[in-house]
Amino acid sequence: MSDVFPLGEVPKSLGEIPKRMLAWVIRPDREGDPEKSMKLEEVPVPQPGPNDAIVLVMGAGVNFNGVWAARGKPVSVFKMHNEPMHIAGSDASGIVWKVGDQVRRWKVGDEVVIHCNQSCGQCPECNGLDPMACSEQKIWGYETSWGSFAQFTKVQAQQLLKKPKQLDWLQAASYGLTYFTAYRMLVHQAEVTAGDNVLVWGAAGGLGVFAVQICRMLGANPIAVVGGKDKVDLVKSLGASACIDRNDYPDLMYKPPETPERQKARMEACKRFGKSVREFTSGKDVDVVFEHVGQQTFPTSVFLAKKFGKIVICGATTGFNLEFDVRHLWMRQKQILGSHFANAYQAERANQLVHEGKIHPVLDQVFPFEKTAYAHALMAANKHKGKMGIAVQAAAAQSTDAQAA
Ligand SMILES: NC(=O)c1ccc[n+]([C@@H]2O[C@H](COP(=O)([O-])OP(=O)(O)OC[C@H]3O[C@@H](n4cnc5c(N)ncnc54)[C@H](OP(=O)(O)O)[C@@H]3O)[C@@H](O)[C@H]2O)c1
Repeated sequence: MSDVFPLGEVPKSLGEIPKRMLAWVIRPDREGDPEKSMKLEEVPVPQPGPNDAIVLVMGAGVNFNGVWAARGKPVSVFKMHNEPMHIAGSDASGIVWKVGDQVRRWKVGDEVVIHCNQSCGQCPECNGLDPMACSEQKIWGYETSWGSFAQFTKVQAQQLLKKPKQLDWLQAASYGLTYFTAYRMLVHQAEVTAGDNVLVWGAAGGLGVFAVQICRMLGANPIAVVGGKDKVDLVKSLGASACIDRNDYPDLMYKPPETPERQKARMEACKRFGKSVREFTSGKDVDVVFEHVGQQTFPTSVFLAKKFGKIVICGATTGFNLEFDVRHLWMRQKQILGSHFANAYQAERANQLVHEGKIHPVLDQVFPFEKTAYAHALMAANKHKGKMGIAVQAAAAQSTDAQAA
C-alpha cells in the first residue's frame, strides 16, 4: 500500500485508507492572506468515529469562510477547535471510503455531496428543535478541521446527501454551503411566497446566484444587485427580473465614520437607488431584503424594506458592526431575521430540488488542487462570479483562469 494516493483519479482499492494524504493546511503561526496561510502538506488520514464517514474528496467548493480561516480574522479558527492544524473547506463531492460502526444509512462506494452542519445529535435541541440550536453546533471545515481541501475528509454521517447523477464532480461540489444557506434564509426564515418582491444583494455571488433561483422557483420577483455590468447577463439568465449595478450609486455604501455631508450624499443615493428598485416592483417597496454584505449596505436594506417587511441576514462581508436608523425599523414594524446555514432536513429538501433540475449550480471557474490557495485569493479580491470548484481526485480540471495556468 502506497503512503499517498496520486491526485486526480479514483484509486482502484475502494475502501483502502492510505497512511497519509495531501491537504491544504493552515497553521497558527502563518495566518494571513490565503496564499501565505494555506500550504500544501502531507498529513495523516483521519479515522472515523462511530457515527462518522471518511469520504474520498472528488471535488471541493471554495467559500468565503476559507478566506476568514486563512486570515484568522475576525476570529482564529484555532479558537474554535483543538486541532494543531486547520484543513478548510465546507463543500465537497466524493465517494464514501470508510464508515464508523454505528453508520447504517451509508456504505463504502456511495457517491455523495456533503452538507456542512455538525451537531451532537443527542441533545433535546438536535432531537426536537433544530440541530442548528445545538450547543455543539459547528460548521465543518471552518469551526472544525478535516475540511474538503484534502484527499480525504472526515464528516458526521448525517452530513451526507446523495449526489445528483446529472452533475459532474465539480458541479456537485459547488453548491451545498451557499445554496442550503440561501434556502433556509428565504424559505424558512423570511417565508418568501409567490408575488413577493425580494431585493438580492451580491446576486452574482455564491449566495446570490441561489437566492435568485429560489425566488424565481417560489414565484417571487428577485431584483438583483451586482457590482459590474459584466454580471448582469448571468443573474438575468438565472431568473432575475431586474438587475441594478451598484456602481451607478457610488455614494450608497455606509463607511463610518461619516461626516454630515457624506451622510446627506448617502441618503440621497439611497433614495435614488430605492426609486430604481420600485421601477421593477410596480412602485411597491420590497417585501424582503436578502442581506449578507453587512455594514456597507445594511442601513439601505432597513430603509428599503416595506412596512412589516423583512431583512434576512446570514453574513457581513464588509463589517460586522451594523448601524442604521432604528426609526425606520420600529415605525414601520420591520423584522430583522438572523439565519445560519441549514439543518440536515432543509439541506435534504433543497438537494432534492437539484436532483429534479429545478435549481442549478453556477460553477464559474474550476482549478486543479494545486491552485486552492490562489482560488481563495481570487475570492478575497471579489474577482469571481458564482462558485469556484477545485478538482481533488476528480480528473484534474483545466484551469479556466488565465493567470492561474
Ligand atoms: N452564515 C452562513 O451560514 C453563511 C453561509 C454562506 C455565506 N455566508 C457569508 O455571506 C457572505 C457572502 O458569501 P458568498 O459566498 O455569497 O460570497 P461571495 O461569493 O464573495 O459573494 C458576495 C457578493 O457580495 C457582493 N459585495 C461585496 N461587497 C459589496 C458591497 N460593498 N456592497 C454590495 N455588495 C457587495 C459582491 O457582489 P458585487 O460586487 O457583484 O455586488 C459579491 O459577489 C460572506 O461573508 C460569507 O461568509 C454566511
